[in-house]
Amino acid sequence: MKNKMKHFINLKDIPSKDLRKIITDAKKRKNARKKLNNLEVDNGEPLKGKLLVQMFEKSSLRTRLSFYLAIKQLGGSTLTLRPDELHLSKGGESIEDTAKILSNFGNAFMLRTSSDEKLKEFRKYLSIPIINGLSPSSHPTQILSDVFTIEEIKKKPISKLNITWIGDSNNVLNSLIVASIKFSFKLNIGCPKNYEPNQKIINYIKSNKNKIFIYNDPKKAATGADVILSDKVISMNDKGDKIKKLNHFKKFRIDKKLMNFAKKDCIFLHCLPRGTEVDENIFSNNQSKVWLQALNRVHVQKSILLYCFGRLR
Ligand code: CP
Ligand code: NVA
Repeated sequence: MKNKMKHFINLKDIPSKDLRKIITDAKKRKNARKKLNNLEVDNGEPLKGKLLVQMFEKSSLRTRLSFYLAIKQLGGSTLTLRPDELHLSKGGESIEDTAKILSNFGNAFMLRTSSDEKLKEFRKYLSIPIINGLSPSSHPTQILSDVFTIEEIKKKPISKLNITWIGDSNNVLNSLIVASIKFSFKLNIGCPKNYEPNQKIINYIKSNKNKIFIYNDPKKAATGADVILSDKVISMNDKGDKIKKLNHFKKFRIDKKLMNFAKKDCIFLHCLPRGTEVDENIFSNNQSKVWLQALNRVHVQKSILLYCFGRLR
């Protein structure tokens, strides 16, 4: 098992063919359990006896619940640790020793963290897979699941669709940018001046064949879109002046007028939780697929877990 084991920290480090395999597996698994209840186990119990340890240094609803159901549906179980109850958070134990214990007691570790460095440190010392459940720089499980949702709804490979992001250049967008390169889809980004992706991401875009366009005009970004995605203007990691930032995003609010620049059958997605970046009547109308989007995370987390365990069909 150990040599087949894989980490899931950043989409950048995972070959496109493996990302595609995860999506294909999730599709098959979702179809195969249409009649099953949430806690019923998939045929073959592929992760029987396995323990997923989860730890959240920041709030979470969807990621927490979806990983809980994911490992249960694969025949395993989960334990959620509270960081404030560990010696690690109080400086009383090193990452190295914590990782050794996690590796001896558990079979995979899912971490939502305020520090990208911490993910790297854990990776260094763990002998079990680590999954990034959101960090300041990326949210890979969310975006892989969103690719799944888009293809499910549009019934086309994402490479044939125009994807638009309206919002902040945050962790979710960073992962969407990587997905655009890995899955080769067109990505328009609409954000205010001075809120463009950081230089590291721009360099990554430039050093890869890409179909990514950045606009400071939301209408230009939305034109011809098959899908518009957004996220809160203020992320959990944001430390600056929130009122000022929200003001800078005023013209980037997703409303009916802006949606009219997109294709007629354009869908709206949002990873949630939401803020004021989207009008209620867009969020709640039938173009919006946010609830399916959230639910699909269970199916994709399962295939991510199987990938990490080297057990993808
Ligand atoms: N979208 C998402 O990751 O939601 P949570 O923060 O609730 O896990
Ligand atoms: N960008 C948001 C995503 C929440 C799921 C944040 O980091 O707070």
